[in-house]
Amino acid sequence: MVRETSLFSGSPSELIGRQVAGYRIEEEIGRGGMAVVYRARDLRLDRSVALKLLAPELARNDTFRRRFSHESRAAAAIDHPHIVPVFEAGETDDVLFIAMRYVAGSDLRHLLDRQGPLSPPTAVRIAGQVASALDAAHEHGLVHRDVKPGNILVARGTDSDHPEHAYLTDFGLTKKSLSLTGLTTVGQFVGTLDYVAPEQISGKPVDARCDVYGFACVVYECLSGHPPFQRDDDMALLWAHQYDQPPPLTGSRPDLPAPVDTVFAKALAKSPESRYESCLSFVAALRMALRGDAAPAEGDAAAHPPTQVDVPVLGRDHPEPADPPRPPPRWAEPFF
Ligand SMILES: Nc1ncnc2c1ncn2[C@@H]1O[C@H](COP(=O)(O)OP(=O)(O)O)[C@@H](O)[C@H]1O
Ligand SMILES: [Mg+2]
Repeated sequence: MVRETSLFSGSPSELIGRQVAGYRIEEEIGRGGMAVVYRARDLRLDRSVALKLLAPELARNDTFRRRFSHESRAAAAIDHPHIVPVFEAGETDDVLFIAMRYVAGSDLRHLLDRQGPLSPPTAVRIAGQVASALDAAHEHGLVHRDVKPGNILVARGTDSDHPEHAYLTDFGLTKKSLSLTGLTTVGQFVGTLDYVAPEQISGKPVDARCDVYGFACVVYECLSGHPPFQRDDDMALLWAHQYDQPPPLTGSRPDLPAPVDTVFAKALAKSPESRYESCLSFVAALRMALRGDAAPAEGDAAAHPPTQVDVPVLGRDHPEPADPPRPPPRWAEPFF
């Protein structure tokens, strides 16, 4: 039973100014199907954080709590420039909460709603960042399962070479966690069905390749302005993910080169084995296709390997070369 004093007993706006687990709630910044996200002040470190409070019925479900604690730990252990850092996850006053970095900017959902399709260079830049985050998570054995524009936060970048910085968020808060608890069944998913992989729908075991599919749906939408499948009701949409061929992207973007369609056909293949084996190899193939090159075979995609930085420390006999003088940073036009 929800107590009088519960954090969720009143309307969420009543929480403004209240203190929750060492954070003072300042402003609501968004809400999804099962949580409200606030900008809050971490009173210990005197900094802004995003504080996510999960719906109380989730806290009352033991399976969800166990999975929440397991997956938020796993996600917090990944230190990656394109994954929102989790500062703390826990429970207070019967409410599960996550404190994470406050990302000033917009989420990709709002960006697409406001601006429509992105230019191919912008789409590929953002896609490359999100792909590196997903591949890193997969290397840690985590599958996101809920890749969607609302879970990609876009902040202003550092300079004209990096006009925006994308962050992936919400590991462990997936439809899978919910369905395990019995809180959802097919047809009663929380949130959107636009990015859900065929094997998720049919209840087969999922692995990293379900994120390749969801991610490809997001990138398709970034370029075309709409997700690959659009249907009038949920059942028709679930059917389309499982059995219909995605319409070629060049149908809505005839200005893009034809090899792009081959890349999306592979990334959105019904069978996980037929998809790209990683998100970065999909983005590398897309980048080449956008240049008009034929889609490369798996493996020869022209991905840039990360610069090797874990080299032995240079000794006194080999003094470290001085950094060349850097030009002052040039700020790009604000992206949003
Ligand atoms: N770390 C964060 N920093 C800034 N805004 C955030 C952060 N996390 C989430 N948000 C905002 O809160 C909104 C609601 O988040 P959420 O409850 O996860 O719903 P959904 O993912 O379905 O949009 C997001 O779309 C985003 O705009
Ligand atoms: Mg989210």
